[in-house]
Amino acid sequence: MSVRNQANGAEPLRVSDVFRRTASKWRVTADRAKSMPVPRRAEPEPPTDGLAAATAAAPGADPFLPSEYTGLLLQSLQHLPDLPVDARAAEIGIGSGVVLASLALRGIARLRGVDSHPGAIRATTALLERMGLADRAALSLGSVWEKLDGERFDLVVANLPQYPSEQPADPGRVTSWSTGGPDGRRIMDPFLTGLGAHLRPGGVALITHSTIIGLARTRAILAAQGLGCTAVLASQVLLSPGKAALLPAASWARTDQPGLREVGPYRFIEAQVLRIAAL
Ligand SMILES: C[S@@+](CC[C@H](N)C(=O)[O-])C[C@H]1O[C@@H](n2cnc3c(N)ncnc32)[C@H](O)[C@@H]1O
Repeated sequence: MSVRNQANGAEPLRVSDVFRRTASKWRVTADRAKSMPVPRRAEPEPPTDGLAAATAAAPGADPFLPSEYTGLLLQSLQHLPDLPVDARAAEIGIGSGVVLASLALRGIARLRGVDSHPGAIRATTALLERMGLADRAALSLGSVWEKLDGERFDLVVANLPQYPSEQPADPGRVTSWSTGGPDGRRIMDPFLTGLGAHLRPGGVALITHSTIIGLARTRAILAAQGLGCTAVLASQVLLSPGKAALLPAASWARTDQPGLREVGPYRFIEAQVLRIAAL
């Protein structure tokens, strides 16, 4: 390769010639560089919460990505009652915000959303802002009904954590996503127990409910408040091998365990959407 010496019109200079003539300068620079301290790359800070841990474990992954249960709940919105024009609705456990956004798109202008994870508040805020719906919803960081004291709603929706496990069941998710405690009811029971006090007369709730956590107990908690439920949708949800392994082996061995299905190596769990209203 050659470089044309345009200033004096002389023969083109070859790059190798230029390099040889300036070699002493290069050597000095290279020797000086060797003695210079090498800057160390900063170590990443260890994750401080579930959201950071999840994101660090799988960069780019969305720890609030909607699931099959979310899809069922969205599908069930066709069972919404005729709501008054000034209807108020609430969602407990908002996650990505996709359910709350769907309610806003259906014309409900007065929405409340609660989640115990700050990342869910951020994700939902971002989604609602992006969709131009942020003025419809007020969000609170808190557990179940904690921040809704004295508030009543025409509609309550919830897709709560209810997998019977103490360990996080979904890698890549925040730990609050689906961990429901040993019997899966750690969040479900306080939600159901407080529901009656947060429904307006004629109010309705739509919730996802895994059959494995026991429909009889759910009915009993509701009946004590004058409420009843019917299943409006159901689906068999495939369990990841990791999630299936968290259930005691005895659960799979029992043939009378409702809500569990084993087909060869594949394991399914039955998920329903319950419509809850006054008896
Ligand atoms: C299975 S996710 C559902 C998220 C979203 N509604 C959806 O369907 O995609 C459950 C959500 O409930 C939240 N959550 C867990 N425990 C809670 C509690 N005690 N109070 C309120 N929200 C809670 C989790 O942080 C998570 O965002």
